[in-house]
Amino acid sequence: MLELKGISKAFGGLRAVDDVSLRLTQGTITGLIGPNGAGKTTLFNTIAGALAPTSGSILFEGQPIQGLAPYQIYRTGIARTFQIPRPFGALSVLENVMLAPLQQLGEQFWNNLLRPGRIRQQERANREKAVQVLDFLNLTRLADEPARNLSGGQLKLLELGRTLMSDPKLILLDEPGAGVNPTLLGQITERIVALNRRGITFLIIEHNMDMVMNLCRPVIVMAGGRVLMEGEPETVRRDPRVLDAYLGGST
Ligand SMILES: Nc1ncnc2c1ncn2[C@@H]1O[C@H](COP(=O)(O)OP(=O)(O)OP(=O)(O)O)[C@@H](O)[C@H]1O
Ligand SMILES: [Mg+2]
Repeated sequence: MLELKGISKAFGGLRAVDDVSLRLTQGTITGLIGPNGAGKTTLFNTIAGALAPTSGSILFEGQPIQGLAPYQIYRTGIARTFQIPRPFGALSVLENVMLAPLQQLGEQFWNNLLRPGRIRQQERANREKAVQVLDFLNLTRLADEPARNLSGGQLKLLELGRTLMSDPKLILLDEPGAGVNPTLLGQITERIVALNRRGITFLIIEHNMDMVMNLCRPVIVMAGGRVLMEGEPETVRRDPRVLDAYLGGST
């Protein structure tokens, strides 16, 4: 579904991502792990278009997407969340979810004058969809709450909700379990599984090994900007190279 060939991203002299090649199979929940600074988020940013790769190519469903703008990549069916959630704090949870879709007609001045009926219709459909998304994520009781009042875990759920508004085929989650209490963690995990059963493919960066073991197959390990190995979670966990990378050994 997604194929990276020789992707590199340098910041000055630092090769944050260094010649990474990998394939994601449709229908999987693939884990991406590795020590701090391994290049995981940078790799996400090159896939999602936030950063242009220094070299290499990215194919999504056979089409090259490297170098496209984030909104263009979003339209192909790839949605992502951020390691640090970025909600509009003063807006309600429902409004935050409603804001996700791009190209709302109401944002274009002439449409407001010429096609007000059409805009109201689109806004109604958008709101209905956001209501369904909140219901799916068990956030309905927080719909009118300003986003700034949410806990870390609730913000992670809100981020996931925002991705769902675009009917994505592939969702990139950057540390969905970070700073989340165990109850909410179980809930997030369970919703990811439910979405995966509906056909959505996931690539998940996560440091919580229990979550990775529960959810992800296969697991890709990065260290020092490179792919160290890929395999079943149990195999990866026991591999001496992986232990070494986490302990700050050879990379
Ligand atoms: N915009 C940037 N400018 C310069 N250096 C950067 C930039 N973004 C990341 N880096 C550097 O690139 C390397 C990889 O960072 P990245 O955030 O991708 O790691 P990560 O694997 O996501 O780590 P973590 O698990 O801590 O989130 C680090 O050395 C980081 O300092
Ligand atoms: Mg990161």
